[in-house]
Amino acid sequence: MNIGIVQEERKNESRVSIIPETILKFPKHNFSIVKDAGLKSGFYDQEYKNSGARIVENNKELISQNELIISVNALDRDYYKNFLQNSILISNFETFINTDSIKNLIENNITSLALERIPRIARAQSMDVLSSQASVSGYKSVLIAASKLNKYFPMLMTAAGTIPPAKVLILGAGVAGLQAIATAKRLGASVTAFDVRKEVKEQVESLGAKFLGMDTLEDSQEKSGYAKELSTDETKSTSDFLYSSIIQSDCVITTAMIPGKKSPILINKKSVENMKKGSVIIDLAAERGGNCELTKQNKTIIHNEIYIIGTLNIPSTMPYHASQLLSKNMESLLNLLLENENINLNFEDEIINELCLTHDHEDRHNLLTKKRN
Ligand code: NAI
Repeated sequence: MNIGIVQEERKNESRVSIIPETILKFPKHNFSIVKDAGLKSGFYDQEYKNSGARIVENNKELISQNELIISVNALDRDYYKNFLQNSILISNFETFINTDSIKNLIENNITSLALERIPRIARAQSMDVLSSQASVSGYKSVLIAASKLNKYFPMLMTAAGTIPPAKVLILGAGVAGLQAIATAKRLGASVTAFDVRKEVKEQVESLGAKFLGMDTLEDSQEKSGYAKELSTDETKSTSDFLYSSIIQSDCVITTAMIPGKKSPILINKKSVENMKKGSVIIDLAAERGGNCELTKQNKTIIHNEIYIIGTLNIPSTMPYHASQLLSKNMESLLNLLLENENINLNFEDEIINELCLTHDHEDRHNLLTKKRN
């Protein structure tokens, strides 16, 4: 099988989907990569060549020569016409937000495997790009908060006096939130976390943080593992409940998301305005509107001397390890898909069935019909 690794073209994207080490694991397959595609993440053409990959000039050339194309982000749809007959594209198509690409994939008869659809089952954990990248975001968000805050994170007892630990509040204790808790604890902060899924209480406490439980709220976990969307009233009572914890915190890191929906507002303007001057909010949910009423996508704003940071694509700010993790996810996925020299699209397999968006001119999960309804 000829496998092509795309040069990511999105602004501020520094990651690459496959690193040289992964190529060595598939000696029966021919890899090509676009010139300098790994440069920004610290993986150089010479290392790809040493792993046996061929270097090509650009994405157009790559796509027209390989049957399996791998990309971190959705490709510009203009490229679809350059795909070989019956080729396969593995990428994040962001279909939770927008299903428009499906029409073009069908028109060009591209078989697409959508990374955002990885089911949350134990067998799929090693392929879960959402988890591996959320974990990077959780870690990095704490470092950003710590460097922005005008205080120490740890408690310090010095000859010049005692410094109390910074108070960090994490809203949403999923993959990113749990990593943020662990990182803030390692830096010595006093950490509290909140989530609408009650099962995370134990996970939060096992990391040494306090869990903030809201007794009046029912458990909101779906069978899929994701949280249910709260009603407008429930979201309002949640933000009221969180008010006193928010205004006592030095840093609030928010990660609360519902797939395909706008992020719930957990920090309203009044909460921000009553926080201590110099406090920091890192809104990891900014991609889908944010958990803070005042968040501006991809901007840092200062409101009443409170920093509100809505940086997007945080994993790309740590591209070496983010790419290494992505590449490991791809390796697991390729191991599931590749059989000898070919791809075996076994739709009896729950993971392959779920990932495959389009095949043989078909919208396999009827996402276009659902959109119209
Ligand atoms: P996510 O990114 O969709 O959401 C982040 C967190 O926000 C979740 O913990 C969610 O409960 C929370 N949240 C949603 N609405 C909220 C609200 N109104 N207030 C407060 N918190 C709110 O989810 P993520 O982090 O990708 O995964 C969630 C869970 O899925 C994980 O904790 C895990 O249990 C499960 N999972 C299972 C996997 C597997 O078995 N392969 C892989 C990854 C996750």
